Amino acid sequence: MPSNLLVILSGSIAAYKACDVISRLVQRGHRVRTVATASARQFIGAATLEGLTGELVATDLFAEGSALDHIELARWADLILLCPATANTLNRAAAGLADDLAGALLLARDRNQPLLIAPAMNPAMWAHPATQAAVEKLQSWGARFIDVGAGRTACGEIGAGRLADPPEIVAAVEAALSPTGPRLRVLITSGGTAEPIDGVRVLTNLSTGRTGALLAAHFAQHGHHVTLARGRLAETAPPGVAEEVFTTFSDLDALLNRLLGGTRFDAVIHAAAVGDFSVEFADVPPGDVHPPAKIDSSTSRLLRLRPNPKLLDTLRSRSANHGIRLVAFKLTDHASADEIATEIQILRERARPDFIVHNDLADQRPGAEFPATIHPADGQPIACASRGELAASLERLLIPA
Ligand SMILES: Cc1cc2nc3c(=O)[nH]c(=O)nc-3n(C[C@H](O)[C@H](O)[C@H](O)COP(=O)(O)O)c2cc1C
Repeated sequence: MPSNLLVILSGSIAAYKACDVISRLVQRGHRVRTVATASARQFIGAATLEGLTGELVATDLFAEGSALDHIELARWADLILLCPATANTLNRAAAGLADDLAGALLLARDRNQPLLIAPAMNPAMWAHPATQAAVEKLQSWGARFIDVGAGRTACGEIGAGRLADPPEIVAAVEAALSPTGPRLRVLITSGGTAEPIDGVRVLTNLSTGRTGALLAAHFAQHGHHVTLARGRLAETAPPGVAEEVFTTFSDLDALLNRLLGGTRFDAVIHAAAVGDFSVEFADVPPGDVHPPAKIDSSTSRLLRLRPNPKLLDTLRSRSANHGIRLVAFKLTDHASADEIATEIQILRERARPDFIVHNDLADQRPGAEFPATIHPADGQPIACASRGELAASLERLLIPA
């Protein structure tokens, strides 16, 4: 079905490939209008864009006679495609800057309208924490990213950052316009459990639930039905995601029974940091109620810990759908390649997950992306440089062939 498509080009050498994308979209019957940043105009002349689309190309926010273009163009479009998206434009959009036409449009658009972003840049620019943080922020606001390609970029460097191939971009545009692919019911667990020591203290961990929330946002934006079961202090569910909250291990245990037994989920992504121990017994004076409202801090008390069973091992058997696909997470601490392989093997034999997402604390830097590797039960590991890439890869892997 022909649609109104607004293509925003920013100043990347890959702008010539965006012309191929525009040409293909026009040939497929879509009406295309273009906005080019001042830098994009250094790469592509107005004549090319006008020749391809039959429409004037807009660049200037204050152009005489079209000062309200940013509102009108945003309303006209069924979908906005930002292609190629430079590091500069991504970072500016994530900051909500609106001092040029492209920025104003991205801010003025209706956030229910699909926004697809096809980045193109040098690998260092793509991997930079500023860019990755911008990607995450834009995703959390509903933007969908078309995966960058890896290989040799125009600047001669090798790595991830190339613009996706034009046919892939056209396919993503048309999929976003008429989402007909299989829809999954996905349960995602995230955040940490907390075990009460007394009425005011808990034994917990530092899990933020960011990865789980981001995965939930990605799946929901791609039309899947998502339930996020999150720890009480973890990041909350993004728009369009059903939310359940747990505190203790036994809360989560009961919640999983209810959710997995009641709904035929297609997949469970178990990203929660489940405490390995519950507090069995706080050493309180005889006669005190247990657990006490608050243990007196002037007296030394012993805690006795009870190991918790591994929830992961039981997810499939307690699920109404015995064919449910299971994604497990494994965090290691400065492990060698051999140690990682052993850990993955042990987890695989124990819980038989379909996929194990592994990451190591050595790769974690404050404020930076947390790269991960997906280990399928059969097949080669898939390296993901960012949480966004992890989400896109998991979606691809979980959708039945
Ligand atoms: C030859 C050349 C190629 C460039 N290619 C890219 C690119 O692929 N990706 C990118 O993020 N920036 C690239 N830049 C830098 C951007 O053009 C620059 O950051 C500019 O300010 C982007 O402006 P815009 O985002 O408003 O279009 C390139 C610059 C030059 C001179």
